[in-house]
Amino acid sequence: MAQAVGERVGASANGANVAMSIDHVTKYYKTKTGQVHALEDINLQIKQGEFVAIVGPSGCGKSTLLWGMSGLHDLSKGQIVLNGTPVTGPRPEIGMIFQEANLLPWRNLRQNINFPFEIKRKKVGPYEDRINQLLNEVGLAGFENKYPRELSGGMQQRASIVRCLSYDPEVILMDEPFGALDAFTRDEMNLLIQKLWMETGKTIIFVTHNVTEAIFLADRVVVLTPRPGRVAHVFDIDLPRPRTIDETFSPPFIEKVLEIKDTIMTGVYTPRS
Ligand SMILES: Nc1ncnc2c1ncn2[C@@H]1O[C@H](COP(=O)(O)OP(=O)(O)O)[C@@H](O)[C@H]1O
Ligand SMILES: [Mg+2]
Repeated sequence: MAQAVGERVGASANGANVAMSIDHVTKYYKTKTGQVHALEDINLQIKQGEFVAIVGPSGCGKSTLLWGMSGLHDLSKGQIVLNGTPVTGPRPEIGMIFQEANLLPWRNLRQNINFPFEIKRKKVGPYEDRINQLLNEVGLAGFENKYPRELSGGMQQRASIVRCLSYDPEVILMDEPFGALDAFTRDEMNLLIQKLWMETGKTIIFVTHNVTEAIFLADRVVVLTPRPGRVAHVFDIDLPRPRTIDETFSPPFIEKVLEIKDTIMTGVYTPRS
């Protein structure tokens, strides 16, 4: 890890430093039957070390926005600026984690984690201590020689988190990473992500359709409208950390869930009280 364990290097420590700026982002997909208007004039500033969750109805453009941030998809209008430079292609400062762990079945866990280094023709040696520490932290130490088929869904997703963190990206983009896991495993993964985020101070942008998960993890929850996705409302989540799963059943938490769900359903924010 770049920072000592337990040290919190988050938004509060970095003040208003902007990691990523999303300026007037609009996206049309061209299809055989015409255009699909996926995003319309999205504007958002994400601070260094901030945890931002993006929620919205299915098909509203959440993945489109995340892929735009990754530099892997073109935008129709607007721009995404990372550390002061427009994103026009993949950037080394960015890591991505998807719903599927996407481990290569013919490689063991260690070889899967080493894979991005091979692609980037980077020596894994200087990162080995870091990788071992991460494996330890996510509970995968001792499983390095196991193949993906020998690991549970949760373990595979832990491996994909280690693979992403191993090369120390500044910004991590996550697209419904726990959507395919059972509820208990999802809780475990949420606690793990909270811990890793608090320790490393990474900037995380996390797409989910699970409102409870969004509130549990995030500093801010951004709600998009139905397609074309626009920002309906941005909710500040001021709950102290570390947050517990038990707190997600408390009345103020549930009140927030209902407020956000209502905004997703209607596309408009109406305070409940
Ligand atoms: N490659 C593509 N070509 C055409 N349409 C697409 C493509 N990818 C996504 N879409 C459409 O754009 C809209 C937004 O998709 P997406 O960003 O995947 O939404 P979400 O992640 O919020 O469910 C959807 O209507 C989807 O069908
Ligand atoms: Mg999606």
